[in-house]
Amino acid sequence: MIRTRRLLIDPRAVEHAAALCDALGDESVGRYIGGPEVTTVEAMAEQIEYVLTAPAHERGQRWLNWVVRIADVADTPLIGRVEATVHIDRTPLAAEFAYVFGPRWSGHGYATEATSWMLDELRDAHAVAVAYATVHPDNAASVRLLDRLDFVIVTDPLPTLASYDDGDLVFVKELA
Ligand SMILES: CC(C)(COP(=O)(O)OP(=O)(O)OC[C@H]1O[C@@H](n2cnc3c(N)ncnc32)[C@H](O)[C@@H]1OP(=O)(O)O)[C@@H](O)C(=O)NCCC(=O)NCCS
Repeated sequence: MIRTRRLLIDPRAVEHAAALCDALGDESVGRYIGGPEVTTVEAMAEQIEYVLTAPAHERGQRWLNWVVRIADVADTPLIGRVEATVHIDRTPLAAEFAYVFGPRWSGHGYATEATSWMLDELRDAHAVAVAYATVHPDNAASVRLLDRLDFVIVTDPLPTLASYDDGDLVFVKELA
């Protein structure tokens, strides 16, 4: 378990399925990310298991996923997740990352604290030199978060990114 100033962060595991569904079940969560990924605890558990066991390296990728809890609140509630796809076949090493938090605990800087930790982890433990994020242009909270993390918009040419949907804003930050 990793401890940041206010958070506890753990690699995501099947046992987190119910708490993730509880934290991310609000319909507002999927508004800019193509709707909810899963709607039941069983489907969430299956998806987590798939990500843990899929041969991502055969696609030139490494998949990293963590869950985030608040450290100093009773029962340390799970509030969201952060994830990265590392493109292990690119030089310099690049990663796309994402973050999904429930609305219950928004507006306290928790998502910023968790993603900030993840970017350090990507640089220090996985040798990632450059990080990308793709965001729906109307997702103002996400754009503000990337702004706080000192990301800048990529204009042209856009890199090839697995998470890119037509019309997305693409953000980049050099980590090394
Ligand atoms: C994107 C998302 C993570 C942003 O959540 P958030 O609650 O705004 O982010 P944080 O937890 O970092 O909180 C930041 C806010 O808390 C405020 N804040 C309060 N105390 C703070 C503190 N100690 N430190 C930092 N910020 C603090 C900040 O000013 C900021 O407010 P602002 O955005 O109005 O300027 C969240 O909306 C989300 O998960 N949405 C659904 C999924 C999604 O769209 N993901 C993004 C895909 S690209």
